[in-house]
Amino acid sequence: MTILDGKQTSADIKAEIAEAVTEIKNKGDKTPHLAAVLVGTDGASMTYVGAKVKACNLVGFESTLIELPEETTEEKVLQVIEDLNNNPEIDGFIVQLPLPKHIDEHKVLMAIDPDKDVDGFHPTNVGRMALELPTFLPATPYGIMELLERYEVETSGKNVVVIGRSHIVGRPMSILLSQKRAAGDATVTLTHSRTKNLKEITKEADIIVAALGIAEFLTGDMVKEGVTIIDVGITRVDDASKKSGFRLAGDVHFESVSKKAEFITPVPGGVGPMTIAMLLKNTLLACSRK
Ligand code: GUN
Repeated sequence: MTILDGKQTSADIKAEIAEAVTEIKNKGDKTPHLAAVLVGTDGASMTYVGAKVKACNLVGFESTLIELPEETTEEKVLQVIEDLNNNPEIDGFIVQLPLPKHIDEHKVLMAIDPDKDVDGFHPTNVGRMALELPTFLPATPYGIMELLERYEVETSGKNVVVIGRSHIVGRPMSILLSQKRAAGDATVTLTHSRTKNLKEITKEADIIVAALGIAEFLTGDMVKEGVTIIDVGITRVDDASKKSGFRLAGDVHFESVSKKAEFITPVPGGVGPMTIAMLLKNTLLACSRK
């Protein structure tokens, strides 16, 4: 069993980016600048955005964090986006999801300039991804593709089962894995909450991407020997033995599944750190495109 070490791989990628930034600075070119918009005080979102800003500093990017109170109006959020779209200092920006209920997420994502949409969530960029045109790939799927590629996990002709059809992970994963590309050429089955006989399907899978958001959902009896497991889940589970009062659990029951797996991502330290590294990579691309 080999651990797909997202922490180490993301550190490698960040070192590559830092090197590119040094070169940019030596040439006197513009330093890449990422902005993040956070509305409200959701604990997990604050942690993720904080990690993104910290990663920017680590590789030598400029970063701007715009924190808005929970009760911010949709109109105000749209104004902030408009300002970021028009600010030549900002190469790329993200609006951390989920947004408070009173704000229309689709409207917000639509307002982001596709050339600054380093999350790759704008319909223009989703369409470009589906058509295999140059674009910003959404960071989590991009990170998973990179991990599969760097560990030379064979995907061509393999049966891949994706669990979860979210716009951020499951759907784009199913598209990318089926494309003619590195870590692609797979035969993909996209499963979801209405899928019948899921266990029969996962048992046939060479590779499983678990992205449904239910802690420890995928258990050892649901997979075959030699499977490759990508665990996208990250749920806070109450744990009185921890100082924080919780522990982080993936969508995979690691103990039972890892016994059968050839490759597996841990939680934490698997997909999560890769997401941040790929966001930086997209920001570097946004800056260099100018
Ligand atoms: N919420 C969960 N994942 C993500 C992500 O990749 N980007 C943004 N903006 N919000 C998220």
